[in-house]
Amino acid sequence: MIGTGNVGRTLARGFDEAGHDVRVGGREPDRPELVSWSAETGIEVIPLGDVVAGSDAVVLATAWDGTEEALAAAAGPDGSALDGMVVIDVTNPLGFTDRLQLVVGHDDSGGEQVQRWAPTARVVKAFNTVGFELMIRPDLPDGPATMFIAGDDEGAKAVVAGLAGDLGWSTHDCGDLRGARLTEPLAMIWIEHAIRSGERGHAFRLLTP
Ligand SMILES: NC(=O)c1ccc[n+]([C@@H]2O[C@H](COP(=O)([O-])OP(=O)(O)OC[C@H]3O[C@@H](n4cnc5c(N)ncnc54)[C@H](OP(=O)(O)O)[C@@H]3O)[C@@H](O)[C@H]2O)c1
Repeated sequence: MIGTGNVGRTLARGFDEAGHDVRVGGREPDRPELVSWSAETGIEVIPLGDVVAGSDAVVLATAWDGTEEALAAAAGPDGSALDGMVVIDVTNPLGFTDRLQLVVGHDDSGGEQVQRWAPTARVVKAFNTVGFELMIRPDLPDGPATMFIAGDDEGAKAVVAGLAGDLGWSTHDCGDLRGARLTEPLAMIWIEHAIRSGERGHAFRLLTP
């Protein structure tokens, strides 16, 4: 995990419980809150610059305005740690002016920006269309929700679909990474409903005949 916040910690627990070997990378791994979380969960929290080496896949779960810097730190001193790495981009490119909104969109996306910041990585957009509380085993009364994914590398997308499946998701492939232009606005519908209703237990499901 790149990121020690709500998403990083939730997905870390989910993948840990699913049997994966997980480490969380943060700027301040010795922060007391993280030390006690690590003791409680048994999941290591380590410096960002050490988290990618030896991993098979990396989750990017940072605040948008820190994402470029976090990627640079995670790429290591010579910038090569992310070469060929599956990077699961959970970020949403949010900013606040007069309202909370996407700061990238229509003919570009946060996912594509992440790929430009980490050009040798295999970026797959995923997990960005649901609140962190429902990222693990999204069983709702009407059935399981759908995880929308997008990425240029078919092999990387297969890895992410498998990992999402381990957490109880069925995935819908939105095509190449330009599909993030669709899934990031979808996240805004999720956020808009959360703000208006005060609830966070909703998720999207693609209904097919
Ligand atoms: N919350 C949700 O339900 C949800 C759902 C889907 C997608 N997302 C997206 O997922 C991302 C993470 O959300 P979150 O709720 O986990 O946020 P969060 O709890 O606020 O955590 C943000 C994380 O970003 C890290 N960060 C910020 N600037 C950084 C920098 N320059 N270098 C390294 N790390 C940096 C923070 O590190 P420090 O702890 O060191 O400050 C923290 O670990 C966001 O892009 C969000 O839009 C969130």
